[in-house]
Amino acid sequence: MRTASHWLSLERSAVLVVDDEPGIRRMVSAFLTREGHAVVTAANLPEARNHLAGRDILVVLADITLAAGESGLDLLAEVRREHPDLDVMMMTANGDLGSAVESVKQGAYDYLCKPFPLEMLKAAVDRAVERRRLRAKAQMLERLEGRFAADQENMEEFLVSMATVIDAKSRYTAVHSQRVSELARLLGRALHLDEDRVQLVALGGRLHDIGKIGTPDAILDKPGALTRAEYLEIQRHPAIGDDLVAPIRTMQALRPMIRWHHETLDGTGYPDGLPGDRVPLEAWIVKVADFWEAITSRRPYRDPMPLPIAVKVLREEGGKRIPRDIVETFLEAIQDAPVALPTGPA
Ligand SMILES: [Fe+2]
Ligand SMILES: [Fe+2]
Repeated sequence: MRTASHWLSLERSAVLVVDDEPGIRRMVSAFLTREGHAVVTAANLPEARNHLAGRDILVVLADITLAAGESGLDLLAEVRREHPDLDVMMMTANGDLGSAVESVKQGAYDYLCKPFPLEMLKAAVDRAVERRRLRAKAQMLERLEGRFAADQENMEEFLVSMATVIDAKSRYTAVHSQRVSELARLLGRALHLDEDRVQLVALGGRLHDIGKIGTPDAILDKPGALTRAEYLEIQRHPAIGDDLVAPIRTMQALRPMIRWHHETLDGTGYPDGLPGDRVPLEAWIVKVADFWEAITSRRPYRDPMPLPIAVKVLREEGGKRIPRDIVETFLEAIQDAPVALPTGPA
């Protein structure tokens, strides 16, 4: 005969059968065991509580009328309160439909009127077990989803740190992505984007050059003009950056800015040579901010441009390589903005 300790060793969730009549406990227990369920039995409420506290119970099958004035309805109330995920099925003496209905009102999952055909018991227990399994599965998915969301957030923080590392790779680009981010935010506001989109372009500005993690420092820091091969190497950074963030779900909205911030209106940009009308607004915003940051900061091969010359140079891009209205909005937006002033180490 199978004992409770035998079931405990199986580490399976059990059906808890609570009935004061030993014959019923034996019969129900034997039948459910044959059906492949782990079963524990209790003759009264204290025994039932012990089982509930001591092991994982799949479903409770409880007689409404117990000995010594105890009621299965009290057990039902306790389970609802302390184990809200657990289904309770009530058993009642034939003809006591009133209390059966009452038990359902109080949260019982179902009831069986004695004597019940064993097939009915099997169907009811199977249903309850299935519900429990589905619920456990849903909870597991929810937990996984939560963990996934947390991972995504961590990933965003990780990428921002990576952008800082890339800035630090070269003393000439020490604050490049930070400044591009601020300028992109400024332009986003001037274009009356909603606040979510403004934050998006600011983050896009911060991460736009993330692909430079793959560019050798010697090229980033080279004091003289770049060779053709070095220039081609630099041109790989938007696609490298895009490949880096492509698998991350929450980064999808940033991809156009990372991949296309070197595309141009006339289709001669890189990496895709997109025609200007296919470059999204977010990418133009980062491009203008990036362009301005580059010409107004010190680079290995030149001093920062004085303000009036930088304005002239950017304006010349308008209508040629960058949409003119975006250039003009940018120039208007940066008036009196300290972040736009020429900068860089002397
Ligand atoms: Fe870039
Ligand atoms: Fe850049």
